[in-house]
Amino acid sequence: MSQKVNVVILAAGKGTRMQSALPKVLHCVGGKPLLQHSLDLATSLNAGRVNAVIGHGAEDIRSSIPEQGFNYVLQAEQLGTGHAVAQTLDALEEDAIVLVLYGDVPLIEIDTARDLLNMSNENKMAVLTCIVDDPTGLGRIIRNGDGLVQAIVEEKDATAEQRHIQEINTGIMAIPVHKLKHWLPLLKDDNAQNEYYLTDIIGLAVQDGCEVAAKACQDPLEVQGVNNRMQLATLERHYQQRMAEKLMLEGATLADPSRIDIRGDIEVGEDVTIDINAILEGKVKIENSVSIGPNCVLKNCTIAAGTVIDAYTHIEDAEIGRDCNIGPFARIRPGTVLEQDAKIGNFVETKKARIGKGSKVNHLSYVGDCELGENVNVGAGTITCNYDGTNKHLTVIGDNVFVGSNTALVAPVTIAAGATIGAGSTITKDVAADELALTRSKQQNISGWQRPEKKKQD
Ligand code: UD1
Ligand code: CA
Repeated sequence: MSQKVNVVILAAGKGTRMQSALPKVLHCVGGKPLLQHSLDLATSLNAGRVNAVIGHGAEDIRSSIPEQGFNYVLQAEQLGTGHAVAQTLDALEEDAIVLVLYGDVPLIEIDTARDLLNMSNENKMAVLTCIVDDPTGLGRIIRNGDGLVQAIVEEKDATAEQRHIQEINTGIMAIPVHKLKHWLPLLKDDNAQNEYYLTDIIGLAVQDGCEVAAKACQDPLEVQGVNNRMQLATLERHYQQRMAEKLMLEGATLADPSRIDIRGDIEVGEDVTIDINAILEGKVKIENSVSIGPNCVLKNCTIAAGTVIDAYTHIEDAEIGRDCNIGPFARIRPGTVLEQDAKIGNFVETKKARIGKGSKVNHLSYVGDCELGENVNVGAGTITCNYDGTNKHLTVIGDNVFVGSNTALVAPVTIAAGATIGAGSTITKDVAADELALTRSKQQNISGWQRPEKKKQD
């Protein structure tokens, strides 16, 4: 694409039908606000100037999505799509083509946008249309006998005959800025809705001898806007289907592509297998041959090659090394680093914990604020008592340490390499290398013990 591209995103409307305190464009598809989808499209088009027109909920929108590489333009009163675009005119580059997007139409593909831009030039505009079964409420594309686009007529202004036209205006257009600057001041609001319609520039272009190209979008969901929560749900499923296909093309086997949810940037290697109901959120990198069991939630983490994650495991802000085993039912919390071959078993919670190569925490433990060396064995029910009610403290465990079951490690405490902790101990003092530490009280056995008998009631 040689020409200069600007983008205008229309997002000032109210979105009454969402029945929501949240501005419509802040509702999410794929975990990302609708408006952010349009902004990301503008970014991938390398648009020079990007303006988002806001009105209803402007303050909420500004604080949720701060200006970064784009600008907000306030449309205080919503007097129509033409009026909305007019608010941005001063901010557009004279020699650019402006792509008009809607803040509530999130699934436009980059190739579609590029095609539309390529169809336009300094004396040619392009409209994205779509042929739909039910055009109710939408602007109709009026073509002449030669099939050339002559005008767009809004439903409320259309004749009965025009209402039969099934080719509709998606609202997405590519327009040379210098022409737009000429046409917008000519718009009138003498129509059924008393609005300044952006769509009226089509008629003006034709009068001006400026060609209007049309590209018909094949997938109605790509150009579908969100007006209510049913449409939001429909687009969510469509987005998820696209994302699942992307993962499969990259080399992941999905047990069921309709039972995975992707809410972020997910990178997968080859021969990854993902069982049903995975939720992948934020930035997740999954390397080759990783296997993820059913019902796992992975958020902002990297999983190195060959690791097996069993069912119902939850991982957040963590770094998992090669060939580890995690779960089922493990909770890996922020700041956890597992080195190669580490094993975290069922009902184990880790937080800010570095687990060395080959070390195992296999059953029912809490390991937080902790550094474990290599080949450590942490027995079932071991707890790092990291919190004294005010501050958090560190537990350090050296290589080859064996921690017996049901041990409480009261931090700060250091267990040096090769030490052994007897089961059931409460360790409050450091243990030197190769020592055995135990705090168990002595066992007493009493022979011939008679259990008390139940008293008879009279
Ligand atoms: C518009 C088009 C119609 C098209 C339809 C596709 C016009 C006149 N009509 O209709 O041809 O088929 O979209 O969905 O353009 N907005 C503003 N400021 C305003 C008015 C609207 O920012 O003053 C924004 C809205 O937030 C929304 C978009 O523009 O994102 C479209 O507005 P909407 O009211 O949905 O347009 P329609 O009348 O449905
Ligand atoms: Ca609409």
